[in-house]
Amino acid sequence: MARTKSQFVCQQCGYSQSQWSGRCPECNAWNSLVETALQVQSSKLKVQNEGRIFKLSDIKIDEAGRVKTGETELDNVLGGGMVAGMVVLVAGEPGIGKSTLMTQVALNSYGAVLYVCGEESAAQVAIRVKRLSGSTSPSRPPSPKIGEGKGEVFLFESNDVDEVVQKFEGEKPGLVIVDSIQTLTTADLAGTAGSVGQVRECAQRLTAVAKRAGIPIFIVGHVTKEGNIAGPRVLEHIVDTVVWFEGERGQPLRLVRTVKNRFGGTDEVGVFEMTDKGLVGVTDPSRMLLSERVEEVPGSVVSVVMEGKRPILAEIQALAVPTQSPVPRRVATGIDYARMQTLVAVLTARAGLRLESHDIYVNVTGGIRLADRGVDCIGFFEPESIGEDRGGGRGRTSG
Ligand code: TYD
Ligand code: MG
Repeated sequence: MARTKSQFVCQQCGYSQSQWSGRCPECNAWNSLVETALQVQSSKLKVQNEGRIFKLSDIKIDEAGRVKTGETELDNVLGGGMVAGMVVLVAGEPGIGKSTLMTQVALNSYGAVLYVCGEESAAQVAIRVKRLSGSTSPSRPPSPKIGEGKGEVFLFESNDVDEVVQKFEGEKPGLVIVDSIQTLTTADLAGTAGSVGQVRECAQRLTAVAKRAGIPIFIVGHVTKEGNIAGPRVLEHIVDTVVWFEGERGQPLRLVRTVKNRFGGTDEVGVFEMTDKGLVGVTDPSRMLLSERVEEVPGSVVSVVMEGKRPILAEIQALAVPTQSPVPRRVATGIDYARMQTLVAVLTARAGLRLESHDIYVNVTGGIRLADRGVDCIGFFEPESIGEDRGGGRGRTSG
């Protein structure tokens, strides 16, 4: 029988020791030791797994066998639906709507769903279900049955990944949802919930059982504003698909995009609106984005950008204000900050605009982040409005 023990392994050089330390004694990297479970063999050399060998020509691929989640916008992003044994990481900031979307997916399912609530109590999830129950769309797309279940949602309050794995294999649900990976731990590691070691080990155990049982699983993971927490980033290479949930908390629009997908493209973007009855798919986001636009206002321009395969009309607002500060302010909301800096540099050096004496604010309305380089033409001020009229600085957008 193999015994598990943990070691702290340097992520830079691979050095390992039994104690945590802030700095690797081998390569001197800071904060690089991560707790990792190690299998210790009791006998000399023993094969643990019974791997199977398949003849490539014998493997039948059944594209029609994809199971719909019931949320068309999410299905498109996944490449047409779920695949048996698919592991999907749903990443996003806290409060963005991950649990809401997962609850909707659970409610849409025709098979039995195991919903692991590590973060909330079963009663809290039930309250959300009650809130959402008015919204289950009448036109649910026809979907083949998943698993042998009865379309029932089973809520499982647990923080122990090994217990979850056991239930997973015992109950054989059609779909498993884990909310969230940061709340799960294994007793084999000493680290606290949410530490890199725990998050990675738990995800690995869940992935292994999903593949073994051929059951799709959604794993929810939180990220901070900077997107670099212990969670999702370290999981990207373990899971099959990473679905990134974006949006501003005060705004209703939510974008769902894949940054990795082993079972489909990464160029699809799903659009949802957060309503008081849950997330509703939006087929025409431009209408929402432009609904409050005031026309003929300087500094406002509508730009056509590609978000995935979908063209979106987005309003981009730019404002340049004269400043006395030697370090003018540059604020970019919804577009890449470094990209804006580059454009400002080009306009200063090549178009002769005196932008160094202006604070610059750029904003994309609706709280969405535009990834397309097509937004580069924004806020182009005609030279005379800034170069000569230094007091006003109210340039006209011409791009
Ligand atoms: P939630 O799914 O709990 O976020 P996450 O799991 O990503 O942390 O969503 C939380 C927010 O969504 C919360 O501010 C309330 C809001 N919300 C609605 O606006 N409508 C709804 O129907 C639901 C269920 C939540
Ligand atoms: Mg949640």
